Amino acid sequence: EYSMKILLLPGDGIGPEVLAEVRRVIDALNAHHGLGLSVENGDIGGASLDRHGTPLAPHVLEMAKASDAVLMGAVGGPKWQSVSYELRPEQGLLNLRKGLGLYANLRPALCFPALADASTLKRDVIDGLDILFVRELIGGVYFGEPRGIETLPDGTKRGFNTQSYTTPEIERVARMAFDLARQREGRVCSVEKANVMESGLLWRETVTALHKREFSDVALSHMYADNCAMQLVRDPRQFDVILTDNLFGDILSDAAAMLTGSLGMLPSAALGEPGMPGLYEPIHGSAPDIAGKCIANPCAAILSLAMALRHQLGRPDLADLTEKAVSHVLDSGYRTGDLLGGEDTRLVGTEGMGRAIAERLSA
Ligand code: NAD
Ligand code: IPM
Ligand code: MN
Repeated sequence: EYSMKILLLPGDGIGPEVLAEVRRVIDALNAHHGLGLSVENGDIGGASLDRHGTPLAPHVLEMAKASDAVLMGAVGGPKWQSVSYELRPEQGLLNLRKGLGLYANLRPALCFPALADASTLKRDVIDGLDILFVRELIGGVYFGEPRGIETLPDGTKRGFNTQSYTTPEIERVARMAFDLARQREGRVCSVEKANVMESGLLWRETVTALHKREFSDVALSHMYADNCAMQLVRDPRQFDVILTDNLFGDILSDAAAMLTGSLGMLPSAALGEPGMPGLYEPIHGSAPDIAGKCIANPCAAILSLAMALRHQLGRPDLADLTEKAVSHVLDSGYRTGDLLGGEDTRLVGTEGMGRAIAERLSA
């Protein structure tokens, strides 16, 4: 008897808009494909701050721990921009990742055939693109101590953060990248700035040693992060798996999103130790500029559900089906406003896109 449970955390801005379409897809999979997934809802981010006085309430973290998977929309927005860091919506997300021990963030950048002309890059550069980012998620400069803003004796101020990585932190995420590479083309490119940062040097040495000990069948290369940014735009198909730290991974994966046509297309999975629920989320934010207009692209959120079905909910078959439904709907010409049109395309809103995908799954 299948009895999996998913916790939906809509959050802020377009978060609730795209999660409504995820809900529609879950309903279709439950009704027509015998999924039997039960759904709970919880607060996170600014929505939680307004309601509970904190961006992640302890009871929501407990609900997350008791779920099989968590799916989040997005957090943050101008309303909370002057709130102190501990209370920021973004801190709720960081606390959730940390609280669940989700050290590896998988961000696949795939070019759907129908969108090969929707990228701002030429079709021949991105056709068939399939990169998997493995981003370290609960270490590095996001979490390093000390941090703060201090006033110096002369009255000027100093803001500071600490970039820091330990060997176990590097090894566990590198192991994930090597394991995943074995199921793909077997190539890992490890990205840091070992030329200027000690944490980058330790990263390179640790990855190299682990590779030699346990993964010599995988092809390992190293690249500086600035060069990687350039190579992603010059010739992105040279990459199979890109292993990198928290901050570089955040930046490089947003850049890679545009290769696929839109930030609204990229899903992610944050994974920790076996047995821990993963956190699945689109890589985009709350998009305050379009929030409330019902035009956000729900594909990244729906594809994040597919990642949950594959990695955690024991239904890789339905993950494939959901991804195929998204692909089919794009092939049929459906486009949200963030995706460049082309011939015979049909502009739809968030709900129009979600309904088309859900209908395809109801056939
Ligand atoms: P953003 O990702 O929210 O938006 C960047 C641009 O992409 C905007 O023009 C937006 O309209 C567009 N966009 C994003 N998602 C889209 C979608 N699904 N469909 C169509 N267009 C889409 O980044 P930002 O504007 O820098 O940040 C806004 C807020 O979101 C900030 O508070 C930031 O901290 C937060 N944020 C949250 C997450 C998250 O929750 N995981 C991720 C990134 C940013
Ligand atoms: C992301 C976001 C987050 C990050 C923020 C909102 C904390 O940009 O998920 O990519 O930097 O990790
Ligand atoms: Mn980001």
